[in-house]
Amino acid sequence: MLKKIPEIEQPFRAYEELFAPCFINYEGGHIPIIAPGVVITGLIDCTGQVTIEKDVFAGHDIMILTGGHDYNKFGMDRRLDGIVKDTTIQEGAWLGTRCIILPGVTVGRHSVVGAGAVVTKDVEQYTIVAGNPARVIKRYNHKLLQWEDAVK
Ligand SMILES: CC(C)(COP(=O)(O)OP(=O)(O)OC[C@H]1O[C@@H](n2cnc3c(N)ncnc32)[C@H](O)[C@@H]1OP(=O)(O)O)[C@@H](O)C(=O)NCCC(=O)NCCS
Repeated sequence: MLKKIPEIEQPFRAYEELFAPCFINYEGGHIPIIAPGVVITGLIDCTGQVTIEKDVFAGHDIMILTGGHDYNKFGMDRRLDGIVKDTTIQEGAWLGTRCIILPGVTVGRHSVVGAGAVVTKDVEQYTIVAGNPARVIKRYNHKLLQWEDAVK
């Protein structure tokens, strides 16, 4: 039997509270550079420098990573020796729900990352990438205002 959804007492919670990301490795890491008005929910790894430019917005529960480990090492050496790469999300990009942006990646201006994508390489501006690993599925010619299928 369906249950009635309880009435929400505070339907309009503070915008900042709804869209606050979680920062990890903030201490000893880098303070992320986030343009005003950026909307992100999920996790931002501050081990390296994260830069998020203006007009970027994201679906739910995304991850922007900057840190990893050296798999040529073992035991505590592997755990303690970090590999750090800076990650940048350029102006106007839209990051779909639950995508993962791996360390060192730059997501280009006004590009789109599909839901659930694992982005391993830089994303060119005005492109749409999706999948794991993320591949270009479309390009957007902003001058002609039309979508074109990417070369497969
Ligand atoms: C990436 C996205 C914008 C593309 O939308 P679209 O242009 O309508 O894409 P299409 O439906 O034309 O799909 C084109 C191809 O890409 C594939 N594709 C689309 N989105 C995909 C995704 N997220 N992951 C994997 N493949 C995807 C389709 O299966 C299709 O493949 P095919 O040509 O082999 O059939 C959309 O699919 C998406 O992921 N949106 C994010 C939604 C979201 O996160 N919303 C939260 C609120 S911000």
